[in-house]
Amino acid sequence: MLVFVPPHPLIKHWISVLRNEQTPCAIFKSAMAELGRLLIYEASRDWLPTISGEIQSPMDVATVEFIDPREPVMIVPILRAGLALAEHASSVLPATVTYHLGMRRDETTLEPSVYLNNLPEKFPQVSRVLAVDPMLATGGTIVAAIDLLKDRGVNNNQIKIISAVAAPPALQKLSNKFPGIHVYAGMIDPVVNEKGFIIPGLGDAGDRSFG
Ligand code: PRP
Repeated sequence: MLVFVPPHPLIKHWISVLRNEQTPCAIFKSAMAELGRLLIYEASRDWLPTISGEIQSPMDVATVEFIDPREPVMIVPILRAGLALAEHASSVLPATVTYHLGMRRDETTLEPSVYLNNLPEKFPQVSRVLAVDPMLATGGTIVAAIDLLKDRGVNNNQIKIISAVAAPPALQKLSNKFPGIHVYAGMIDPVVNEKGFIIPGLGDAGDRSFG
């Protein structure tokens, strides 16, 4: 499994804004969206199908390369918090399709359950999927989400996870179960407490984004 934390000062900046308990809801949400934009940019490097050809510029014929619109990237935001992180996906990537997945973690058992599944019955054979969830804590939610994607025909080598903060229990679970998967995170934090919160983390990303 590849876990990549892009060493970029902008990523550190937005993580710092998110960590601050004084950051109001609207700013938190837009900081999350900016972080998502940067992480999605990094995750899409060397990953997007392109088509090339020649085009007439005002001065001469030029060889050009475009993103192939026939193979859009599938964006899967895990509600609620994933909505904020995925907000700019379609402005970074010229061709996307979004499928929402609503998952809620029980506050006592920390077990995830699905309350909305908008995934297609069967994904096209070559599907590049970005699973977007800001918090990878115990890992129960993201592992259940990847299981659902695999059930619908996605190869786990074609899935990338976009996350604001990842913690060791989630990374361990992902690496045991899906060794080919790639994770792009803004930060890795060391601890998940007994209530399932990442420490120091950002608090509850869903509540802080949506109130
Ligand atoms: C939070 C978070 C992740 C999940 C992480 O969602 O956004 O989806 O918990 O926890 P885990 O790795 O231990 O499974 P939550 O259930 O609070 O829903 P929300 O996004 O609607 O707030």
